[in-house]
Amino acid sequence: QIKAVIFDMDGVISNTVHLHYIVNKKVADRLGIAFNEEWNQKLQGLSRRATVQAIVEKSGVSLSDEEFESCCEIKNSHYIQLINELTEKDTQPGIRSFIKELKESGVTMVVASASQNASRVLTRLELLPYFAGVVDVTKLTRGKPDPEIFLKAAEMVHVSPTDCVAIEDGEAGLTGILQTEMFSVGVGSEPSLVRADLTLPSTEDLTIQVLEKALNRQDK
Ligand code: G6P
Ligand code: MG
Repeated sequence: QIKAVIFDMDGVISNTVHLHYIVNKKVADRLGIAFNEEWNQKLQGLSRRATVQAIVEKSGVSLSDEEFESCCEIKNSHYIQLINELTEKDTQPGIRSFIKELKESGVTMVVASASQNASRVLTRLELLPYFAGVVDVTKLTRGKPDPEIFLKAAEMVHVSPTDCVAIEDGEAGLTGILQTEMFSVGVGSEPSLVRADLTLPSTEDLTIQVLEKALNRQDK
């Protein structure tokens, strides 16, 4: 019996991975290095600062603290402009019906996203009311790949990690889930997702039946 489902947001609920690509590329452009979708996918799940840090490190450019902060600000101000254009159509395939199915079955849902803009995005998608909570990343001590965000999500709704399913499309997030007792689901084609208890090619494949079948297989 699944009591709670913990969702990553970017790339699982919202189709915003490409928007992160656009703004991350702006940072890379400023530092004079090439950027591509593949690298962007690898960076998914890292906090805003950790993302900028990774790009700065690869560029070999040394930035003052002020310049570093300004990169973070530029990235976020552009990102906010982009997400203000989101509509309920910007959900990942099949996700809205999966969320509705979970709601109807009385399963608690929580969002564990590294994004400080998570509530804003979910509001734009008209999905915020479905969730019992959104983890406040500003109150965490460690970001993904640390498991803290997922454990916090379970704690928020008083569900034991063993009764939780956690869904990710990113390597860092999945690494976090794998350090908990949650049942892990990886969605997408990123190679590192094969480490999950269940790997599905698309969010369209998510149904309660598919999850329960996989959980029962694991119990045997
Ligand atoms: C998510 C995304 C990352 C992004 C991070 C911070 O984890 O997968 O690509 O860098 O959130 O997002 P924010 O909206 O706070 O800049
Ligand atoms: Mg993601």
